[in-house]
Amino acid sequence: MGIIFNEKNDTFTLHTKDATYQMKVDKYGFLLHLYYGRRTDGCMDYLLQYADRGFSGNPYDAGDDRTYSMDALPQELPCQGTGDYRNPAVIIRNADGSYGCDFRYRGYRITKGKYAIPGLPAVYAGEEEAETLEIDLEDPVTRTAVTLFYGVLPEQNIITRSARIKNNGREKIYLKKAQAACLDFVSGEYDLLCFYGRHAMERNVQRTPVAHGTQVIASRRGTSSHQYNPMLILAGRDTTEEAGNCYAMSFVYSGSFKGEAEKDQYNQTRVLLGLSDELFSYPLEEGEVFFVPEVILTYSGEGLGKLSQNLHYCIRKHLCRGKYRDCIRPILLNSWEASYFDISTESVYQLAKQAADLGVEMLVMDDGWFGKRDDDNSGLGDWYVNEKKLGGSLDVLIRRINELGLKFGIWFEPEGVNEDSDLFRTHPDWALRIPGRNPVRARNQLILDFSRPEVVDHIFEKMCTVLDSCNIEYIKWDLNRSLSDCFSRGTKDQGRVMYDYVLGLYDFLERIVNRYPHILLEGCSGGGGRFDAGMLYYTPQIWCSDNTDAVDRVKIQYGTSFGYPVSAVGAHVSDVPNHQTGRITPLYTRGITAMAGTFGYELNPAKMNEEEKQEIRKQIKTYQKYAHLILDGLYYRLTDPFAQETGAWEFVSRDASEVLVNVVMQEIHGNMTQNYIRLKGLLPGCSYQEQESGKVYAAEALMEAGIPVPCRMGEYQAYQMYFIRMGLDEK
Ligand code: GLA
Repeated sequence: MGIIFNEKNDTFTLHTKDATYQMKVDKYGFLLHLYYGRRTDGCMDYLLQYADRGFSGNPYDAGDDRTYSMDALPQELPCQGTGDYRNPAVIIRNADGSYGCDFRYRGYRITKGKYAIPGLPAVYAGEEEAETLEIDLEDPVTRTAVTLFYGVLPEQNIITRSARIKNNGREKIYLKKAQAACLDFVSGEYDLLCFYGRHAMERNVQRTPVAHGTQVIASRRGTSSHQYNPMLILAGRDTTEEAGNCYAMSFVYSGSFKGEAEKDQYNQTRVLLGLSDELFSYPLEEGEVFFVPEVILTYSGEGLGKLSQNLHYCIRKHLCRGKYRDCIRPILLNSWEASYFDISTESVYQLAKQAADLGVEMLVMDDGWFGKRDDDNSGLGDWYVNEKKLGGSLDVLIRRINELGLKFGIWFEPEGVNEDSDLFRTHPDWALRIPGRNPVRARNQLILDFSRPEVVDHIFEKMCTVLDSCNIEYIKWDLNRSLSDCFSRGTKDQGRVMYDYVLGLYDFLERIVNRYPHILLEGCSGGGGRFDAGMLYYTPQIWCSDNTDAVDRVKIQYGTSFGYPVSAVGAHVSDVPNHQTGRITPLYTRGITAMAGTFGYELNPAKMNEEEKQEIRKQIKTYQKYAHLILDGLYYRLTDPFAQETGAWEFVSRDASEVLVNVVMQEIHGNMTQNYIRLKGLLPGCSYQEQESGKVYAAEALMEAGIPVPCRMGEYQAYQMYFIRMGLDEK
């Protein structure tokens, strides 16, 4: 059983295959956190120690007991107003204007299956795969109620958390902060791993000790952002890829967020993750409820590699949905880097023809096909086909492309609007803008107010008209700026706009997913600016970065791999010199790097010579050969490309019978030192044969001593080695 309530001790214990999470209702009705870590039995309340600590307040009902303080006790939902001066998960402004809440235990329910959250993405699982624990808490004074949700997927080592907050009072209250996940540790020294970056250089890895004070990882951009990803890892100081304790927290939400890691005055560690409390003041009228978006938690006692694999599987099988969840995705050629805004029926058809000749399976027409859209200064918001520019109808173009044997995909940016557009001229009040102020422009565009249903409905309807008119099988859903000027004419409470915007976005996506179940959605926000678990509920893949440089991509995809599966990573081979960096890398290397994702091309084949085309045909066959292993296998990071000369990663089939090793040399020097790559995840006692050379190695040898990386002349060489298990050796 995944969830156990022990009446004697008043403890709730959540067991997964390898981990245990325990909490306790104490004598005053506070819900205290006891333990999260390697699986264990027994009651852990002996960990709670009490002492009279100066300047740490005591709840009134503790009477004369000065040793009882929320300022020192580990909690499930720390709130402002209980005498806990650390970072709170919840802050409420009550109807009388006071701040403060004090949630006490009222009851619980355990049910089969995994809870869902109305209007928000969440992990899902079958009745037999998961259990849900709901714990009811209430503020005795205001009657504000909180239900904490815990979803337990024992086999996947996953625990999820979410919460519902209900105003049971007569008058309006305001939520000022709402975070679903809090991890309190009474002891231990930890590092925080976060994934920071910028446009075209997303998800670099930073590992820093959790120190006194608070380290905040956040986005106030209205999207999860290129700058900080809403996925955090807390790791023991000695934890490595292969060994040690670590915890991941992944926010299933695509808007502004806040993660806080704090070491308190008693050297205890608290990590919170949830909604950003900036530009947030959410009104709740009598009887209204608010759902706090979900956080996925996972624990590994076997290092970061296993931690990532837990998240990969959960996202791939319990968050991504639809027809394409388990499919090998079509190999696509995208028109963006081939011709940017300069597209026409003929040029796109020619691209498709070339693509078909190479073995590509889908042609994606990127930006430039709608409204008045010859550059990024105009047209956004006008979602009708510009037949004049294209020189024909979309339907005819798609039919011709389908006749070549290719699927057809198209680009949209539903949330964006240019001031130079018919939509803006008709509905200037539909853009987020503060009355009396000039808005902040970015890429010369504004953002539509998706917190208003009429705006969402309008764009949805226009988009459906296009989608219904022809055989579109893929949508790239883009957003090319951060939100600003978050003022909506649809409400008097501006503190709700950022959250309602995200609900509007999810509502739109949900409608698209339901109405067009055959369409593959790829998320995008200037590349990987909204690469989060929330989007992956709707779009099973996301364009990882606008940077297609193979060498930079090694690092970007390495960082991304900590929290997200390869099947979610859009990765394409592009032209050289690379359009973002000017770097020249071998075509082979570009192929190897793009094969760590949903594979495709971002170039004009007409510019390539016959030898290069031949190589692309081979590349496509290679990807098709290994796609099952790449998308469904276990992913291992073999090196740290930020610290080492090589970037290396590996795919191992779940039965460890097939192994695909990929290596990219990031540097070249005279008289090179030899690099060895140690393999992971092989079955001990077995032999593995490298398929090109025919050489046979013992699993232990490959894992302990490694395999030498050959050294070819020239920069940025790459190597791919494919091993097959030969069977058990005789002992
Ligand atoms: C963004 C995307 C690109 C491309 C352009 C089109 O930058 O990330 O891939 O679609 O928009 O304007």
